[in-house]
Amino acid sequence: VSRHRLAVPLSDIAVDAEIEAAVERAVVSGWWSMGPRVAEFEQAWAAFCGVKSAIGVANGTAALHLALLGAGVGHGDEVILPSLNFVAAANSVAHVGAVPVFCDVKGEHDLNLDPEDLEAAVGPRTKAVIALHYAGFPCDMDALLAIAERQGFVVIEDAAHAPGASVDGRMCGALGDIGCFSFFANKNLPVGEGGMVVTNDATLAERVRLLRSHGMTRLTWDHDHGHAHGYDVVSAGFNYRLDELRAAVGLVQLGRLQARNAARARIVARYRELLDGVDGLSLPFGEHEQRSSAHHLAVVLLPHGAPRPAIQKEMERRGVQTSVHYPPIHRFSAYAAVGSRRPLPRTERLAERLLTLPLYAHMTDDQVEAVAEAVCEAVAGAATPAS
Ligand SMILES: Cc1ncc(COP(=O)(O)O)c(C=O)c1O
Repeated sequence: VSRHRLAVPLSDIAVDAEIEAAVERAVVSGWWSMGPRVAEFEQAWAAFCGVKSAIGVANGTAALHLALLGAGVGHGDEVILPSLNFVAAANSVAHVGAVPVFCDVKGEHDLNLDPEDLEAAVGPRTKAVIALHYAGFPCDMDALLAIAERQGFVVIEDAAHAPGASVDGRMCGALGDIGCFSFFANKNLPVGEGGMVVTNDATLAERVRLLRSHGMTRLTWDHDHGHAHGYDVVSAGFNYRLDELRAAVGLVQLGRLQARNAARARIVARYRELLDGVDGLSLPFGEHEQRSSAHHLAVVLLPHGAPRPAIQKEMERRGVQTSVHYPPIHRFSAYAAVGSRRPLPRTERLAERLLTLPLYAHMTDDQVEAVAEAVCEAVAGAATPAS
């Protein structure tokens, strides 16, 4: 029996005996919060990303919040990020008392931040950039890092969409100063809730580790294992800890990540064959010599002026779930005032045309073809004037 109302959901989680057994072992171990599984997951994640430190946290938003605090971003600072983005990064900037400054995207073929517009947004208060790898496709990190070096700001990667994506073989998340991952239920590595901060900077890692758990110098696990008796509180931290059950799921999922990303790549390539250029549709992010995508989202651009709500409704009627990633942040009420400070013409134009199609590693060929047919027919039907 399908767990979904629709024949092809936007994303789907594969549940199997290995995951069930891993969770059961964590449950019966009797140690449920941070312990050996979290430590193992952190080590495995650090090795996977090729970084010195990985710090497990409660979710991807907590990772962004801690990255900003670790980088010393605070009141009066500005942080540049693309507006075509999930709102978590902007919210995290607001929570540390800084101001988000939105930059534009490159264009129809690359929905990532535009380094030129980003540099134009740099001012005396710019303290950091949060670089999103939209849909799992690496943004232009070489250009961004060159600007960061010239202008002197910190580069935080929002790699929530990009676990396993790489540039010249180097993993996204490990390219800037500090990287943030999400293990939310719909991500490439689904756990439910969970996240990870990665960095090669030992000082940053130590700050993030302290802030994750109330700024306390020792953890319950250390106490229980006789490693520590007293503790100090050295900063006003949070409870952003990851637990053993989630780490157990994360470890199983990590073992499958590369194969799943490869399956996602094959599905996106099939979508491209079936859709690119058909009926005015286009798919951003083609093949790139240096950059390898994690294919988190299958995004198409609808023809100019196509009525997206009607197309989505028709696709839903045909059993296909769709979404929009994302309504740009600067259009939300909470960000309208800061959002109006800079023109974002490409974001404005492209946002109207975005449509996200179903994508998950175990999609069948029939499902991919059914989605492609549904979108083509919905677009063609919407273009036909009612008689
Ligand atoms: C680009 C991006 N950044 C950050 C987040 C926040 O992650 P989480 O939901 O784990 O807090 C998400 C996903 O939800 C996301 O898509």
